[in-house]
This record gives sequence, C-alpha cells and structure tokens, in this order.
Amino acid sequence: MPEQYAMIIGSGFEEFATGSELQTGETRFGSPSAALRSTDIAGTPVITLARHGEPHCIPPHAINYRANLAALKSAGATSVIALCTVGVVSAIRESGEIGLPDQVLDFTWGREHSIFDGSDGQLQHIDFTEPFSVGLRAQLLHVARSAAIDCYDGGVYATTQGPRLESAAEVDRLERVGADYVGMTAMPEAALARELGMEYACLALVVNRAAGRGDTPIHDDVEASTESARSLTESLLHAFFESIGA
Ligand code: HPA
Repeated sequence: MPEQYAMIIGSGFEEFATGSELQTGETRFGSPSAALRSTDIAGTPVITLARHGEPHCIPPHAINYRANLAALKSAGATSVIALCTVGVVSAIRESGEIGLPDQVLDFTWGREHSIFDGSDGQLQHIDFTEPFSVGLRAQLLHVARSAAIDCYDGGVYATTQGPRLESAAEVDRLERVGADYVGMTAMPEAALARELGMEYACLALVVNRAAGRGDTPIHDDVEASTESARSLTESLLHAFFESIGA
C-alpha cells in the first residue's frame, strides 16, 4: 500500500492548506478544525488540514486534536507532516530557519491527549521513546541534504500551553531541562498520531527567538523571519513530494 501523506498546517502558513474539500464527517471525537482538503504537491496527492481553523481562530489549547487526527486517519492518511511554528530556545537555530526535532517535552495541561479514554474498553500504552517517526524524519532529512536545504537534524521541542508566549524565566527553565525549541501544538498531536498508527514528523519553523533570547521584540522577529521559514519549507516540501512521486 502506498503512503497517503497529510499535512497539518500551523499558524501563519495556512496558504499550504489548499485544494478541494474532501467529504469528511464528524469523528467520534467531534469535528476537525477545518475541512480536510486534497491537493497535489509535485505530483503527490496530499491531504491538508489547517490546525487553527479557516479562518485562523482556534487557539492551541482549544484545538480538537483528537478529531483532527481521527479525521485524517479516516480519510486514509498514513503519514503526517506537521508544520509547527516555534521559538528557538537554544543556539541550534536562528529565526527564519527550519529543523526536524527528534524529542519532545510536554508542558500542556487539560487537553484531550489520548484516544484511549476508557469509553470503548480499549487501552494501549504506546511506546513513545521516539516521539517523532524515525523513518519519516530520515526521509525528510535525506531529501533536505540532497537538495542542499538547510534543515537541522534533531532538537527537543518543548510544548507549552499558550496561547500567551512564555516569560523569559520560563524559557530559561525550558533551556535548563533540555529544550531547543518551544511551540504550542506538537503535543498531543504526535502522541495521537502514534495511537492511531500514523507516522508523524514535526517540521519546526523557527519564526522567533524565544522570550528573553533576542534583542528584537518577539512579534517584530516573527514578522522579519516568517518569509525565510516559509521559503525553506516550500522548497523542502516540494523536493520531498517530488522524491515520493519519482
Ligand atoms: N513560544 C511558543 N510558541 C511559539 C513561539 C514561542 O516563542 N513562537 C512560535 N510559536
């Protein structure tokens, strides 16, 4: 069976969520953030979903992650590339760059983070030693290297609750516990994808230095850096899906 790729599209990158609407019903967890769409990137069919809704208005803590992942699963997705905007905590990246984190820390609370809620008599303790799919990350990194696209291999993604950004002291603490990136959405997304048996890789789009890390006000940093992250992302996705179709 060939892979069916899907992309979950994060803040500010909604133009990647294009294509014709797929017929998607409710899931047992409710409705996804937006219509699932079917598009074609470099000859490969891809399902897209705007994580924060269309228009962008669902904050990270209020996203129905279970419905999003369940809807992708029932649309036939087997492999999910998640575009996640992040701030950078450590020195591994600069604003405007991209990376593929290989570990996660979860500081979120109050989110529905498992499909195993006891309602149907099923329970699984998924192995989450490698929270992001090793194979899908390796494929993306291979393509990035072959196409000379600068994409950092690894790093720890700390997931905060949002929707506010962090204080400088919170970012200092995140760095002390090993974080390289900070974002608000990779969890519980990655865990739900694993529970549902889908590959999942998080493409971290660095749009700012995390609080207390740069001289520029964060929103100015985001404005100055988004275009560069967008262009790297576009190049990587194009090269990736071209390599799949080849
Ligand atoms: N913190 C949390 N989430 C983010 C940030 C940040 O600095 N930038 C983009 N998403």
